[in-house]
Amino acid sequence: MQHNIPYEKHILVCINETCKMQGSEKVFEKLKARIKELNLKKKYRPSRVVCLGLCGKGPNVAIWPEGTVYCGFNESNVEDLIQKHLLGGETLTELLYKESKPS
Ligand code: FES
Repeated sequence: MQHNIPYEKHILVCINETCKMQGSEKVFEKLKARIKELNLKKKYRPSRVVCLGLCGKGPNVAIWPEGTVYCGFNESNVEDLIQKHLLGGETLTELLYKESKPS
């Protein structure tokens, strides 16, 4: 997909009420720290967002512009997101949002 964002990917971490109560701030902070440690800041940009519309299934994380959405994502999944998904091109199927879209 052609896009003009200044990064290869944005990782959008919901920090709205429900996801926050489920630990999304820790997810964001760990993700941000690891991207910095691994010198990947020019490629990947973690951002806090307010609600991805999947409240109660969180913490929820969306990868943009590709459109992958992960639910029940916690701190222990950060390394897999970086190593497997971002660097390896592998989907974390166990965390993938699976419900069908409304018609
Ligand atoms: S509070 Fe996170 S998706 Fe709504």
